[in-house]
Amino acid sequence: MKKTVKDIDLKGKKVLVRCDFNVPMDEEKNITDATRIIAAIPTIKYLLENGCAIILCSHLGRPKGEFKEEFSLKPVAKELAKVLGKEVIMANDVIGEDAKTKAANLKSGEVMLLENVRFHREETDNDEGFAKELASMAEVYVNDSFGAAHRAHASTAGVAKFLPAVSGFLIEKELECLGDAINNPERPFVAILGGAKVSDKIGVIDSLLEKVDTLLIGGGMAYTFFKAQGYGVGNSLCELDKLDLAKELMEKAKTKGVNLVLPVDTRIGKEFKPDTESKTVAWTEIPDGWEGFDIGEKTREIFAEEIKKAKTVIWNGPVGLFEFPQFSAGTNYIAKVLASIDAKTIIGGGDSAAAVKKAGLEDKMTHISTGGGASLEFLEGKKLPGIECLLDK
Ligand code: 3PG
Repeated sequence: MKKTVKDIDLKGKKVLVRCDFNVPMDEEKNITDATRIIAAIPTIKYLLENGCAIILCSHLGRPKGEFKEEFSLKPVAKELAKVLGKEVIMANDVIGEDAKTKAANLKSGEVMLLENVRFHREETDNDEGFAKELASMAEVYVNDSFGAAHRAHASTAGVAKFLPAVSGFLIEKELECLGDAINNPERPFVAILGGAKVSDKIGVIDSLLEKVDTLLIGGGMAYTFFKAQGYGVGNSLCELDKLDLAKELMEKAKTKGVNLVLPVDTRIGKEFKPDTESKTVAWTEIPDGWEGFDIGEKTREIFAEEIKKAKTVIWNGPVGLFEFPQFSAGTNYIAKVLASIDAKTIIGGGDSAAAVKKAGLEDKMTHISTGGGASLEFLEGKKLPGIECLLDK
């Protein structure tokens, strides 16, 4: 167990808080999903109640060590001020004169935000000197960036070398919800995995096969499993170098007594475009020249039956190309079934979280993780550097 803000004396201190403000924006720089900003509020409010002076930092996108206006955190400062109902002082740099002066003058009860930490290459290099500069502005370090906790970067891990380091409430909640589901599930325990590639999910499939009763596989990666059984997949996504691995995973499921369920039918299209001609075919009958983009109607029902039996469900990755309306039915159906059952429902971040939000069902889930890659690595059983670096209780 790691220490949280509640386990350390923070009263009146200057605190550096790493958040994950990596939020989507439209071309006018309007934030299109503020979930990650809202998720940071409980920790910020707690620190304000304790009279702290708060220096927030985060990355946004991947600017590769250079200042680029399009990756500026200024729109985040504006949104945060709105959500918090309080002024947020924006620094024009990260460890430069402006940030340092503003940090030095920051008073108890004030909040400031540094510019994008990834404007310095040293951030992703986890450079010690850079971490020390960041640390020099504060007395305590709080990591609340669950979404970036799988990165061993200067602001997510390196800085913990120089300051007493604890977690915020968001990381605490994520670890509790994901950890409970994976280590102490009420059974039956069902996992739904989707997404494009088997190669992205090998670790998580392997680790879930040790834990779940039923594993439902949809999305682009299902086609690699079809091909591994000797069937044609047309132009569908397929990783030819992962066919043996797919066979091994199916074998492992048998050995472990896990009910591995693959689609029995699939919605296919002629081309990768929203209004392409489409139809549903059996999984063994994908014609040449066609491409699978969603699970079919029969598969939806089979998946729904399995999900309805569950007491714990983890879902990571959409089961179809849900960005195109005509191939979103499978993913929407899964979201609706999950919303209707009396079970613990945990949604891995990234695309599955986006799908649940798009369906307007976020209030119906037990927990939606704010971490995409981070939740995946956590479910794989990997140690997350942004958490490992924190003080033990
Ligand atoms: C995310 O959006 O998953 C996190 O903010 C991490 O971003 P990264 O993959 O660029 O490190």
